[in-house]
Amino acid sequence: MMQHHVKDLALTEKGKDRIEWAMQTMPVLQLIRERFSKEKPFKGLRIAACLHVTTETANLAITLRDGGANVVVCGSNPLSTQDDVAAALVQEYQIPSFAIKGEDNKTYYSHILAALNTRPQITMDDGADLVTTILTERKELIPEVQGGTEETTTGVIRLRSMAKEGVLKFPVISVNDADTKHMFDNRYGTGQSTVDGVIRATNLLLAGMRVVVCGYGWCGRGVAMRVRGLGADVIITEVSAVRALEAVMDGFRVMPMQEAAKIGQLFVTVTGNKSVIRKEHFEAMPSGAILANSGHFNVEIDIPALEAMAKSKRRIREFVDEYSLNAGKRIYLLGEGRLINLASAEGHPASVMDMSFANQALSVEYLVKNRSKLQNQVYPVPPDIDQEVARLKLKSMNAEIDVLSQEQDKYLNSWAEGT
Ligand SMILES: NC(=O)c1ccc[n+]([C@@H]2O[C@H](COP(=O)([O-])OP(=O)(O)OC[C@H]3O[C@@H](n4cnc5c(N)ncnc54)[C@H](O)[C@@H]3O)[C@@H](O)[C@H]2O)c1
Repeated sequence: MMQHHVKDLALTEKGKDRIEWAMQTMPVLQLIRERFSKEKPFKGLRIAACLHVTTETANLAITLRDGGANVVVCGSNPLSTQDDVAAALVQEYQIPSFAIKGEDNKTYYSHILAALNTRPQITMDDGADLVTTILTERKELIPEVQGGTEETTTGVIRLRSMAKEGVLKFPVISVNDADTKHMFDNRYGTGQSTVDGVIRATNLLLAGMRVVVCGYGWCGRGVAMRVRGLGADVIITEVSAVRALEAVMDGFRVMPMQEAAKIGQLFVTVTGNKSVIRKEHFEAMPSGAILANSGHFNVEIDIPALEAMAKSKRRIREFVDEYSLNAGKRIYLLGEGRLINLASAEGHPASVMDMSFANQALSVEYLVKNRSKLQNQVYPVPPDIDQEVARLKLKSMNAEIDVLSQEQDKYLNSWAEGT
């Protein structure tokens, strides 16, 4: 048996069934897998994927493996691993995996190091942990790395600052910047799965609740849209005037966090920023306030400040911690402040990850083919890949579109045609 560290290999059968179930709604990735199986574009290539270990990630890993790659998988968050999937990857699909749901931080980093021990030539990140670890602790691996891909907003922000400071040592493709990624995954994926996570953790009725969504970016728009759909009274907090204006015109109330804190009942952070909800806000909140985060890191809610204010803490439900503060006030934190959609639910539905992971798979192929032309920078997904993913997804949904006539094409492309 190959090297691995998963919770329990006896979970393999369940994981395999769920992986197959997910693949049924990943038609674009399925097409890519069929092509890769024939063409073997990654023959012998070592790929390390540090992603949320879900059924969708398993299908991406299998796709790369079928393309000839030697793939290793580790988790990109201590609380997002699906243990049955990790087991199936090892036992059923012969893909070494290092990920256990609920692992402590030390184990989490030991898993990243274990994946790096395979000396990857391609890194695939969700949050830039592989790249960061290579550049700080495993510099001897740099010469062998041809490039990487990055899945999420926060990871892209980290990578751009590395490139700006000249410390990035290989090209990375920002999959998050593809339209067919962030417009759908971040908005509809995070929107639906965050609500799913909150409901599974709490069994709350959202109708009639005052829900504060912090951040009106791609994810925040999705969360706000979906909680409103369930009848909640939604309040937005923002730091960008443009995004706040958009929220106002979308019909939401916008106010500073200090004001929202006084009246909110459920708070959801999706900013990619730190300490968005902090001590002065906990102090202003009514007793019973519930806090959840769906941004990448568990820093959006200042948990150390909440811990310091608390007189006691108990786990009242599986993903709900109750903090007792002064004067009998209670505040509830869901999923330890980690991405709630992956902590208490299953992350994004496969149908939306189909597009994100199609971009991932095709971006790796592009990296391998174009390595010699790329600098040590962060690159967008090539527009033709983005368009191809959209085209294939539409086709799978039996939706057809019009084609420009010659006359229209000329009209749109010539300055002389303006009448
Ligand atoms: N849960 C998931 O599965 C999932 C999926 C995709 C992205 N993400 C993560 O979600 C986070 C947000 O991603 P995005 O694509 O929506 O980013 P985005 O840049 O589109 O939006 C973030 C928004 O937050 C706002 N913001 C920043 N600081 C703030 C503050 N203190 N108070 C209020 N608003 C603030 C910004 O102005 C911006 O409008 C990132 O960490 C990203 O990695 C999570």
